[in-house]
Amino acid sequence: MSPGGRLSSGGRCGFALREAGSLDARVIAGLHLQCFADGLGGAVWSASSITRILSLPGSYAYLAAAAPESTASPENTELQPAGFLLARALADKSEILSLGVATAWRRHGAARVLLRAAMARAGEAGAARTLLEVAEDNVAARSLYSAEGFALVGRRPRFYRRPGGTAAAALVFARDLL
Ligand SMILES: CC(C)(COP(=O)(O)OP(=O)(O)OC[C@H]1O[C@@H](n2cnc3c(N)ncnc32)[C@H](O)[C@@H]1OP(=O)(O)O)[C@@H](O)C(=O)NCCC(=O)NCCS
Repeated sequence: MSPGGRLSSGGRCGFALREAGSLDARVIAGLHLQCFADGLGGAVWSASSITRILSLPGSYAYLAAAAPESTASPENTELQPAGFLLARALADKSEILSLGVATAWRRHGAARVLLRAAMARAGEAGAARTLLEVAEDNVAARSLYSAEGFALVGRRPRFYRRPGGTAAAALVFARDLL
């Protein structure tokens, strides 16, 4: 992952965070595959799908990169992509579209850093609230969102189609930004 865009560090491991664009679609798609290949969060998104999402008004993305040995810095060209977030903010509403952290980098604070950056960006864009959907049986993500102040506001039965013909409900979580 080459450095570029706005970088800031955060998280217990020293993640470098930067805004991502369509040139990063393949990197994001690779992370999406790692995070959602089990089908638990719905379909895996291709690089072209991610490019299309990023072309929509109000869309934005962040990449978190990690350096082995906790040496993350903007000058370090050896940073490895560790996590991504795709979101959209339009008028007073915003939505987290997808979020994932590579298995090797989990439980080091990357998702928290990505989520907080996305909420700050949505607030700056004028959004008063952020919404997201998560599979009912996704314990890790539900725990993350609860810890970050999101509250359950809805449930969509059989929303995520699973391998083998089963399905899981989506829970809708929301958090006020003001
Ligand atoms: C959910 C996911 C994004 C969390 O990423 P992460 O970088 O490991 O999360 P963080 O380290 O930032 O964790 C922040 C908090 O979330 C909660 N959390 C995260 N993973 C958890 C887990 N496996 N079990 C319980 N709580 C968890 C904890 O409260 C944690 O704080 P703590 O470590 O201080 O206890 C990651 O597990 C993932 O990519 N999963 C697969 C894809 C996915 O489910 N995406 C979300 C779809 S809506």
